[in-house]
Amino acid sequence: MKRKLENQIAIITGASSGIGAGCAIALADEGATVVVNYPVPAAREMADQVVDRIKATGGNAIAYQCDVSKEAEVIQMFADTVSQFGTVDILINNAGLQRDAKFTEMTLEQWNFVIGVNLTGQFLCAREAIRVFLQRGLDPAKSKSLGKIICMSSVHEVIPWAGHANYAASKGGVMLLMKTIAQEYAPHKIRINSIAPGAIATPINHDAWDTAEHLQELLKLVPEKRIGQVEDIGKAAVFLASDDADYINGTTLFVDGGMTLYPGFEDNG
Ligand code: BGC
Repeated sequence: MKRKLENQIAIITGASSGIGAGCAIALADEGATVVVNYPVPAAREMADQVVDRIKATGGNAIAYQCDVSKEAEVIQMFADTVSQFGTVDILINNAGLQRDAKFTEMTLEQWNFVIGVNLTGQFLCAREAIRVFLQRGLDPAKSKSLGKIICMSSVHEVIPWAGHANYAASKGGVMLLMKTIAQEYAPHKIRINSIAPGAIATPINHDAWDTAEHLQELLKLVPEKRIGQVEDIGKAAVFLASDDADYINGTTLFVDGGMTLYPGFEDNG
């Protein structure tokens, strides 16, 4: 059976761990060549492990260091990808982090750091990706779309989150960034969508599931009563990147076990 992303080139930001790593493996398993972006030299080893895992099953990937909040580095990452692989077909705008603090104690540094990576990083990468898509032109042998962007958002693009104002603001920003550029470039056959994960077991929320008590508390927020796995997001990313989703543009796919169903109202209100 033909794989869904055969011969397509994908840049996945923040792919050395967590959801990004899961998406890198899922896309590679469907035939994409994957640029496994990682942010700092300390993450190189983890990025290499993702690349090794992909190569061990016959896939193609490279590790690439770039801080997505830095314009020059992002421009260079896209230029290097185009010179090595010819083009970019898919961007998964995944890199994201948290620096939590009570609002009155939140420093400007914490604010800027989170907005810089989670929102400005998505702007910079999406801009370069769209420039590459437009320059290349359509290749119907590969895909019905000129290019695909998947923005990694969060249930916190709609659920307010006390103690995480920088993070929630960044994800709310991602929502309208995604919709606005989808509106702007849909006429060019570029598809831009978001995935909004709920609680997925990754390093970012380790404290929320590291003990049985913490997990029990967390699952009160999840109607399906299980924590998500990176594979849940990887499958959604493959779908949105593939021609199966050809008529899906400018929307957010919530992959959250029902977290956005207000489970507190199940037996209340
Ligand atoms: C956050 C996690 C959190 C989840 C559900 C994600 O966007 O990064 O820390 O567990 O949302 O609240």
